[in-house]
Amino acid sequence: MYVLNCFSIHLLLLFSSLSEVVDSSDEDFAHDDAWCGFRSRDLHDMEYIIEHHFNKIMVAQYNSTTERWTGYTAWGVISAEKWNEDPDEIPRRRTDMEVLCKPYANRIYNTTDMYMVEPNVTLRLEGPSSDSSLVCSVHFFYPKHIRVTWLRNGQEVTSDVTSTDVMANGHWSYQIQSYLKYTPTIGERITCMVEHISQTEPKFYDWDPSLPKSEKNKIVIGACGLLLGVVFVAAGLTYRMTSTGWLFGHIGFRDYGTVN
Ligand SMILES: *[C@@H]1O[C@H](CO)[C@@H](O)[C@H](O)[C@H]1NC(C)=O
Ligand SMILES: *[C@@H]1O[C@H](CO)[C@@H](O)[C@H](O)[C@H]1NC(C)=O
Ligand SMILES: *[C@@H]1O[C@H](CO)[C@@H](O)[C@H](O)[C@H]1NC(C)=O
Repeated sequence: MYVLNCFSIHLLLLFSSLSEVVDSSDEDFAHDDAWCGFRSRDLHDMEYIIEHHFNKIMVAQYNSTTERWTGYTAWGVISAEKWNEDPDEIPRRRTDMEVLCKPYANRIYNTTDMYMVEPNVTLRLEGPSSDSSLVCSVHFFYPKHIRVTWLRNGQEVTSDVTSTDVMANGHWSYQIQSYLKYTPTIGERITCMVEHISQTEPKFYDWDPSLPKSEKNKIVIGACGLLLGVVFVAAGLTYRMTSTGWLFGHIGFRDYGTVN
């Protein structure tokens, strides 16, 4: 779910054949790759992998999740069996993880911590009421990896969801927008959930359906329109009354110059 981090340790070994004349085409080449992968800060899901290669072919692999070697060639299968039977093997690889993986992983986190920026999240309603979408705008975060999910009453929504790609904004930060087709339904709770490595846990942003902003604006505009209408009618009435000789002594009405 979070950023997959990984670093590797490479070990190269060159074996020359023991014949007296060493021809480079007789040389065999072995190399080992070891890498540590982790997705979460507490490193509980850390995986330590060792791969033995011989002349570019992977012959055996150790996986710390299963704590077993797997052989991929005839020699690899025999060796894997032998190593899996060795009672010292598992403690040895666990020590590798403690000594090789964890301090480096912590160092990577400590370094990237300096650059992490928490996202700024806003929720809004877009489009006509017959075909509207909720938009979860997630801005100004770093690093790039992020997960934005919609929840309806706490359950993940997978249909009617679209999303932009994560976009760079040119200032060392990223943004993404996620859309959910929205039909207001009484009693339902819609939430935008954002998961980012800068946060120790997911953050939830609830949509407040009481009165979407655009509706509020319409009502305000409507009220203003009504008020203007009343003023015009009143001004018009004053004008008619004064022009037909009625005395109607409010000088202030002259200011409504639009009516004539
Ligand atoms: C290690 O084993 C686990 C459990 O079987 C598996 O999920 C994972 O993909 C393996 N890792 C690699 C690099 O093969
Ligand atoms: C990373 O930072 C933590 C807390 O700031 C500290 O305890 C730890 O020793 C650091 N680890 C490394 C490898 O620098
Ligand atoms: C998040 O964005 C909104 C709208 O652009 C802005 O008003 C607000 O100050 C921002 N908050 C933070 C913490 O940057």
